[in-house]
Amino acid sequence: MKRRDFLIAGATGGAMLIGGRPGPLDFDLWRMMPLATAVDSRIEVLVDEPIGTIAPEIYGHFAEHLGAVIYDGIWVGENSKIANIGGIRKSLVDAMKKIRPGLVRWPGGCFADSYDWRDGIGPKAQRPRRTNFWRDAGEWPKGVPDGPWKYETNQFGTDDFVHFCKLVGAEPYIAANVRSLSAKDFYQWVEYCNSPSGTTTLAEVRAASGQREPYNVKFWGVGNESWGCGGNLTPDEYSAEYRRFTAWVPGYGVGLAFVGSGPNGGDLDWTRRFFGKLAERSALGSMWGWGLHDYSWNVSGGRTSDWRQGKGDALNYPDEEWYELLSQADQIESLIANQWVVMGESDRAHRIKLVVDEWGAWYKPGTEAANTHLLGQQSTIRDAVLAGLTLDTFNRHAEKIGAANIAQLVNCLQSLFLAHEDKFVVTPTYHVFDMYSAHQRGKSLRTMVSSPRASYTRNGKPATMRALNGSASLQDRRLTLTVTNGDLESAREAEIALRGATVKGVSGMTLTASDVHSHNSFENPRSIEPRAIGVTKAANPLVYTFPPASVTRLDLGLA
Ligand code: AHR
Repeated sequence: MKRRDFLIAGATGGAMLIGGRPGPLDFDLWRMMPLATAVDSRIEVLVDEPIGTIAPEIYGHFAEHLGAVIYDGIWVGENSKIANIGGIRKSLVDAMKKIRPGLVRWPGGCFADSYDWRDGIGPKAQRPRRTNFWRDAGEWPKGVPDGPWKYETNQFGTDDFVHFCKLVGAEPYIAANVRSLSAKDFYQWVEYCNSPSGTTTLAEVRAASGQREPYNVKFWGVGNESWGCGGNLTPDEYSAEYRRFTAWVPGYGVGLAFVGSGPNGGDLDWTRRFFGKLAERSALGSMWGWGLHDYSWNVSGGRTSDWRQGKGDALNYPDEEWYELLSQADQIESLIANQWVVMGESDRAHRIKLVVDEWGAWYKPGTEAANTHLLGQQSTIRDAVLAGLTLDTFNRHAEKIGAANIAQLVNCLQSLFLAHEDKFVVTPTYHVFDMYSAHQRGKSLRTMVSSPRASYTRNGKPATMRALNGSASLQDRRLTLTVTNGDLESAREAEIALRGATVKGVSGMTLTASDVHSHNSFENPRSIEPRAIGVTKAANPLVYTFPPASVTRLDLGLA
């Protein structure tokens, strides 16, 4: 067979030169095209080596009462002119359904440890107004008016959250208040959600709001960042709180999955001491997951580690910041590996899974869609590559990762959506979740990617970063391979070898941008969107050219 017979056709458009740099679309995905390079990379998929099933909960989201995530994002109100379902923004529901979200975490974040769930139930007109945790945040732009983002109106509470989850087909994941409420308040929240119809007073309160049947909420976070905004506790103190909160909570047949509040960054001491204390009290069995938060923010090239100084701009960034952000994101693999080893010192059978319940890019303020959108930021193809490489890492560690939530769903940090009043747009990160949803429930396969590293200048010195990153999963006879190319300048032509299977047909899609600083906006909502890859013939091995700064999904039908 001639080489060209098994190359995959790319449905790419014409060439464009931006600022002297070849745009990704100059790199035809066909090897025989003029700009093609020699095969320089190799992706090997071991079809007979499954690692574990990819939990749909890995494709999870996070919605905190912070800025405009809830009010102006999810919740527009029942009497709004904006299309809504019981007060919930309809365009958001429609877009969410398409990506099959595994779960949604709520109500925080730091807000969770200041939230009294009783404020958010019952007749809406009688709900109290409270000071929001984020009222005094230093990041508020000047001149922001008061509103529900500073003074919580409690119009969106437990019933609305569970309703939202049902509408989009996600499991609810509720983070409980450990800092400022009691263990009793916690088990009564579980009772409100899960006690069978007519059995308890709280089940009747729920029924009075129109929800007779229990919600059967399974995932419960026990505090949030308990080493910081969640109480400034030591691991020993938090372990005592965790045990008090989780001992003997009635399950109502649901099989409650408690998630402990994990370390600050990669702090192994927090994990070791917490797990040690739980083991000492024979309480490890009560924990289903261990929370891990990982934000990529420091683009200073080692010039500072100061949280306020090290962040960059979401849109206007030099090449160095592109690589620094993605290098930081790529460190999540060692974060996972190191935590896993320490967890295994106490939990030898590795029954407890990692829950990366906050992850994503965090930039300095300045690109928010409206001034009420605290921590709101724009997204480019850089964020898409970050999302792809992070999800690929989770897939490759499917046996360790029980759930994950990108932060946050809408109008905050690495959002999938931007919404303001009646305006709504999806970001490049949304497209990645759409493309990667094909992995859900698949068997993660051992995948080795070898490729020349990307080179860049870091604080005046030469540096490199892993360029290609990827993961593969199998469902029935359909193999999904997703790959990111983090090199800004150069495509990677890769030979893709499947061990233990023969390819029958290939299709797929690629997300890239002719200008890596471009973004989707209310005015220009389709600036970045995936393009289908047409396919003529396929064979094993395949050769495919991954454009620079891109995210690709290949769907391989197996014989
Ligand atoms: O996502 C924003 C904040 O980041 C969360 O509230 C907190 O948990 C984390 O520090």
